[in-house]
Amino acid sequence: MTTLIKGGQVVGVDGAKLQDVFVDGEKIAAVTSPGLLTTADEVIDATGKYVLPGGIDAHTHMEMPFGGTHSHDTFGTGTTAAAWGGTTTIIDFAVQAKGTSLLSTLDKWHEKADGNCAIDYGFHMIVSDVNDASLKEMEACVTAGVGSFKMFMAYPGVFYSTDGEILRAMAKAREIGATIMMHAENGIAIDQLAARAFEEGHTAPVQHGLTRPPELEGEATSRAITLAKVTGAPLYIVHLSASQALAAVAEARDGGQNVFAETCPQYLYLSIEDLAKPDFEGAKYVASPPLRDKSHQPDLWRGLRTNDLSVVSTDHCPFCFKDQKELGRGDFRAIPNGIPGVEHRMDLLHQGVVAGEISLGRWVETCSTTPAKMFGLYPRKGVIAAGSDADIVLYDPVAKQTLSAETHHMNVDYSAYEGFELTGKVHTVLSRGEVVVSPSGFGGSTTHGRFLSRDLNQYLS
Ligand code: URP
Ligand code: ZN
Ligand code: ZN
Ligand code: ZN
Repeated sequence: MTTLIKGGQVVGVDGAKLQDVFVDGEKIAAVTSPGLLTTADEVIDATGKYVLPGGIDAHTHMEMPFGGTHSHDTFGTGTTAAAWGGTTTIIDFAVQAKGTSLLSTLDKWHEKADGNCAIDYGFHMIVSDVNDASLKEMEACVTAGVGSFKMFMAYPGVFYSTDGEILRAMAKAREIGATIMMHAENGIAIDQLAARAFEEGHTAPVQHGLTRPPELEGEATSRAITLAKVTGAPLYIVHLSASQALAAVAEARDGGQNVFAETCPQYLYLSIEDLAKPDFEGAKYVASPPLRDKSHQPDLWRGLRTNDLSVVSTDHCPFCFKDQKELGRGDFRAIPNGIPGVEHRMDLLHQGVVAGEISLGRWVETCSTTPAKMFGLYPRKGVIAAGSDADIVLYDPVAKQTLSAETHHMNVDYSAYEGFELTGKVHTVLSRGEVVVSPSGFGGSTTHGRFLSRDLNQYLS
C-alpha cells in the first residue's frame, strides 16, 4: 500500500516547505519537490494544509490510580482522543506502588495498554519506592525500553521521595544513562500550608492554588537541579508552571548542565482565576502544580522561544467533574489532581503560532521533534523524512473550531477549555501509514498502536 500526500507544506524545525510525501507501508519512503511523483495506491490532496510529523505527547496518565479513583480515560479512549487531535505517540507513566517492584509495575502497565491503543505508545516509570531492589531494576527497565524515571518532591506519603532517595536514584541514572524526570514542588511545606488552610475553614478549590505558591515550585526546582549537579544525572523538569522554576532551569542551562523542562497548555492559557470559579467549578482546574497567576504566562512563552522550555506535553489526567472531582467537595485536598488535554495540545499551541508567540518550526519542535529526541524515538518519530514512521498530520491552519465537552473525544464530562475559539484544525492523521482520522471521522482501531521500546535521551551523547 502506497500513499502520496501532495501539494502541502511540510513543516519541520526550520519552518515550512512545499513538498510531497510518499508513504510505502508503515514508513515514509521519500520527501520530494512538488509534482515529482504522481501515482500511488492512494493520493491525498494536501493543498493549503500543513503536513506535520505526528504530535508526541510525552506526559499522559491513562487509567492512572490517584486519590482513591482512576483517571477516566482508558488507553483506548485516551489514545483515540489523542489521534483526533493530531497526536500519534504518547508516553504514559507506569506507577510503582510502594512495596512493589518496577518490573511487575511495567508488566501491569503492559497489560492495560497492549492491544488497546489507537496510536503508538511508550512508558516512563514512576519510582515511588527507592530501595536497593528498585535501583537495580532501573537497569532492567532501560533494557525493556523505559529509560526515564519520574520522581516526586510533592505528595508526601504517596509518591514522595526524600532528597536522599532522589540522590540515590540520580546516581543510578547517571551510571546507566537514564533521565530523571522531576515533579518539583516542595510537598512537605505545601502539606503544612494546606492543613492550616483547611483548619481555618478554607475548603474551596482555589485553596489548592493558594497553598502551593510558585516559590515552592522554584525552591524544589533549584533543589532538584542541585541534586542533579552533585550526581551528574540529566534532569527533566515536568509540567513547569512558574517563573521562579523557569529562572532556575535557565540558569542551570546557561551553566551547561543537562537540565531540560516541559510546560503544558494549561499553564499557557488557564490561570488561578479558573481555580477560583464559584460553586465548586474550580475543581475542574485542580492539578499540580496549580494554575498560576497570569503574570507567569509571558515568561513561559519566552521560555518556549529560548528553548529553556524544550517540550510541550499535556499531563493529561482526566477526572470527571460529576463523580470524581466531587470527592473533594468540602476539602480541596481530596480533589483528584489532573486536567484533561491530550486531544487539544497541537491546536492550543497552534494559537501561539497565530499570535506570533512561537514560530511554525518551534510549534513542531516542542510538540514533536524534541520529545522524540528527548525520549529516544528520533528519527523514527518526530520528523517528516525518508525512513521515518509515516506518522503524519494534515493540518488546516485556517479552519475554525470551538472546544467543548459536547464535541471532544476524551472520556470526561467537561472541557477545561469550554468555549475556546481556535484557529486551525486537524484534517487527516496517519499512524504508521494508516489513515486513522479523516474528514469522515475516526477510521482507526484501538488494536493498531504498538509499544515503543525507546533508546536513551538523545541529547546526552
Ligand atoms: O495534577 C496532576 N499533575 N496530576 C497528574 C500527576 C502528576 O503529578 O503528574
Ligand atoms: Zn507530576
Ligand atoms: Zn503528570
Ligand atoms: Zn465516571
